[in-house]
Amino acid sequence: MLRDFYRGVEVLICPGVYHPAEDTYLLVDGVMDHLPPGEGRSFLEVGSGTGMVTVAAALRGYSVHFCDLNPRAVLCTRENLRRAGLEGEEIDPEEFFEGEGGAYDVIVFNPPYLPGRVEGEEWERLALEGGGPRGRGVIERFLRALPGQMGRSSVALLILSSLNSPSEIKEVHPELSFEILKNLTMGLETLYLVEIRAVGEHFSTIQR
Ligand SMILES: C[S@@+](CC[C@H](N)C(=O)[O-])C[C@H]1O[C@@H](n2cnc3c(N)ncnc32)[C@H](O)[C@@H]1O
Repeated sequence: MLRDFYRGVEVLICPGVYHPAEDTYLLVDGVMDHLPPGEGRSFLEVGSGTGMVTVAAALRGYSVHFCDLNPRAVLCTRENLRRAGLEGEEIDPEEFFEGEGGAYDVIVFNPPYLPGRVEGEEWERLALEGGGPRGRGVIERFLRALPGQMGRSSVALLILSSLNSPSEIKEVHPELSFEILKNLTMGLETLYLVEIRAVGEHFSTIQR
């Protein structure tokens, strides 16, 4: 089976699961360089793919939870955690999107950000192109669910593309603050690592 290695994290790339790429590495950088040590704090990765980002967080001491629409990705994340001698808890993605359960300390997502429409279970296309018009469909669902899953001091890390017009996204979500931590330009597209926090009283008071 194919493998990938970045910043001390090795993963198997299971068939039918998104191959780690520059967007994945940007999110691993976010976990390694911009989050405090985990020390048992709770961490959720939405859309975990191979689990490279989740493994990075578990190595930093976070108590990790993960989910993915693709059943093969869920198995792959679990296997890559096991190979690293780590554990994590799988949740149903709808548990996140429906806003049940209370606040995580950290939530991360490298979403399908390319414009496109994918029907059914074309998992590899869905990984990147399932974002609907302007690539913002899944991102919008994620941002709407966030306040119900974050506490006052929680932080979310999200990958956005210049194709998603990040400044417009920021404008329509005054309940959240957005800060670009890092960017990476590849040809005509720029990828952004964005830190998001709750503003005012827009957060959950239920701690996990
Ligand atoms: C761009 S890939 C990122 C995978 C991995 N996190 C990484 O960085 O390599 C997006 C992932 O999100 C998953 N996904 C897409 N829509 C989702 C949804 N609504 N809920 C949960 N996972 C979703 C896809 O199956 C895919 O594994």
